[in-house]
Amino acid sequence: CNFLVEKSRGEILDTLVEGLQRLEYRGYDSTGVAIDGDELDSTTIIKQIGKVDALKEEIAKVNPNRDVTFASHVGIAHTRWATHGQPRQVNCHPQRSDANNEFVIVHNGIITNFRELKTLLTNKGYKFESETDTECIAKLFKHIYDTNTQNGNELDFHELTKLVLLELEGSYGLLCRSSHYPDEVIATRKGSPLLIGVKSEKKLKMDFVDVEFPDDTENRPETPLRGNTPTGRNGAISVTSNKKNPNAFISNSHSDNDNLLPIAANHFNLRHSQSRAFLSEDGSPAPMEFFLSSDASSVIKHTKKVLFLEDDDIAHIYDGELHIHRSRREVGASMTRSIQTLEMELAQIMKGRYKHFMQKEIYEQPESTFNTMRGRIDFENNRITLGGLKAWLPAIRRARRLIMIACGTSYHSCLATRAIFEELSDIPVSVELASDFLDRKSPVFRDDICIFVSQSGETADTMLALNYCLERGSLTVGIVNSVGSSLSRATHCGVHINAGPEIGVASTKAYTSQYIALVMVALSLSDDRVSKLQRRNDIIQGLKQIPQQIKKVLDLEPKIKKLCQNKLKNQKSLLILGRGYQFASALEGALKIKEISYMHSEGVLAGELKHGVLALVDENLPIIAFGTRDSLFPKVVSSIEQITARKGHPIIICNDNDEVWSKKAEGTKLETLNVPQTVDCLQGLLNIVPLQLISYRLAVDKGIDVDFPRNLAKSVTVE
Ligand code: G6P
Repeated sequence: CNFLVEKSRGEILDTLVEGLQRLEYRGYDSTGVAIDGDELDSTTIIKQIGKVDALKEEIAKVNPNRDVTFASHVGIAHTRWATHGQPRQVNCHPQRSDANNEFVIVHNGIITNFRELKTLLTNKGYKFESETDTECIAKLFKHIYDTNTQNGNELDFHELTKLVLLELEGSYGLLCRSSHYPDEVIATRKGSPLLIGVKSEKKLKMDFVDVEFPDDTENRPETPLRGNTPTGRNGAISVTSNKKNPNAFISNSHSDNDNLLPIAANHFNLRHSQSRAFLSEDGSPAPMEFFLSSDASSVIKHTKKVLFLEDDDIAHIYDGELHIHRSRREVGASMTRSIQTLEMELAQIMKGRYKHFMQKEIYEQPESTFNTMRGRIDFENNRITLGGLKAWLPAIRRARRLIMIACGTSYHSCLATRAIFEELSDIPVSVELASDFLDRKSPVFRDDICIFVSQSGETADTMLALNYCLERGSLTVGIVNSVGSSLSRATHCGVHINAGPEIGVASTKAYTSQYIALVMVALSLSDDRVSKLQRRNDIIQGLKQIPQQIKKVLDLEPKIKKLCQNKLKNQKSLLILGRGYQFASALEGALKIKEISYMHSEGVLAGELKHGVLALVDENLPIIAFGTRDSLFPKVVSSIEQITARKGHPIIICNDNDEVWSKKAEGTKLETLNVPQTVDCLQGLLNIVPLQLISYRLAVDKGIDVDFPRNLAKSVTVE
């Protein structure tokens, strides 16, 4: 969205398309853009299924005049991961209100009451062209706009938005542009991330934006959707647009004190306060550009100055000004949104010399694991300092129980570290899949400590579980990779895993860094226990070796390549066996293989083998088993014997120079992949790497698009 910064249509399209390309790593299935058309206040929508390249081709086909220039302009674009409706062109966003494109929307999230809305709007004569939930938002905008206009109410764009939001249930991060409000844009969110990059040639006057209070709900005109006429309390409507009538309800004190928070709005019970959001230093209209996105990576090229919107914020941008309003009244809500400077470099998210992001991320693990520990572990004195947690440790130590909550790979990192948490903290730990935890409406108490683990910090199920726990008053801890993500902002305290951007859909380096971060939390919880001293010291010294040891495991690549070619490539199914600390490795390994090689794979608890899975074992079924040394080693050996007795010939991931396995391998088809030995609770950090390499190799051999596996997304921001 640009104001007084002249841009050609070609430049605008390129900016939008490039922004989408930066989001493509998340793995989406359709794309689209909406920009100014040739007629005055008209909108051109171009969309296509597939990747951004398909959209580029479609744009070339439509061939809009790239040379027309605009002094002010709003363009919106979207990549979609289908929730409602197949990936078909008509279902791509932007979605529109009508054939004239009066209101055009892009939307992340799910509108849960969309069927009801669709019926209501259909009964009022609206014709739906897509199967999406989003289309009903565009039509709702038009319907409420038209009804108010007919009644002589000139609604400001954000006022109109408030009325629309009243009708929506579910989650959204949405942008709206409209031919009725040329060169204006609305951005609003609830449960889906949204940020605004701010760029100006002039110096910015403020590094924060004040938030405007919502209207007094009692005075709010009824939305006409359900047959009500838009009447106010006394049957008269007096919606005053602060844009068209800028002096309405402005308190004197507000007019000449730039830094005054709009708390006055509350004090004077104003229906419309003037938000103080003029960003240029001298107050004059400054050339401004705003870049709105769900993800910082598509904004970073243009500006590092960003403002994160919060749930129920409505950002309204026009005339180079950014105004933030709230869609609902809330006691104690924060009234400023500060503009932050992002530290991420674009180069960081590039592929470098690797063929795929996933490959790069697997090979980055010696550095990424080191970065997780950097500045936090004093290896000489066996001390750990976690800045984001320090002040909260006494409260956490007093907890009756710890609940770890996550999805996918992040969930496996919780399982992998649960035992060491319990051992070091003496506090019972439960590990929960976020969706199941919510489905059960599991009881949570004020004295529970809830630990949320997420690479993206945006996973909808995890965020919902977090809100559920916050509502119940428990202390929440975030273990997150994405700095500035929703989860890292909403939790009371936490640890950033500092693994750097992870782009491959299949999570690899985030897993090993989450694992280490969790072990560091467990160590911090027990640093006042003399009885745990030796164990803690052993683990800390073990951690020191991990980056180097991972490097050694990566040397297995040539052997793994052969193994995949000869033994695994043409198989339909694969079992992965582990117990104790290695059960999580088995589950995570199986997930990696499913995700990117599309081969069925199952992580099996070795102790459960005899209770069913053994029926599958024969000379053909490939099995990988974790046989590294720990207290359960004899039991694992006996499980393997049960397999070999049934003519199975497993591949064993074992420690270097382990005679038990080298003897068993002699003269048999049993194969080994050797990894260095470390402390039992850290062994999973090394054991998972061969599985990451196997899954990568299988996917490459099968010609699968490793970084964008079908049907999956990097950040699942829908329930
Ligand atoms: C998606 C990704 C997985 C990831 C999971 C949880 O399913 O494809 O790789 O493990 O979400 O994501 P989070 O960002 O919360 O760790």
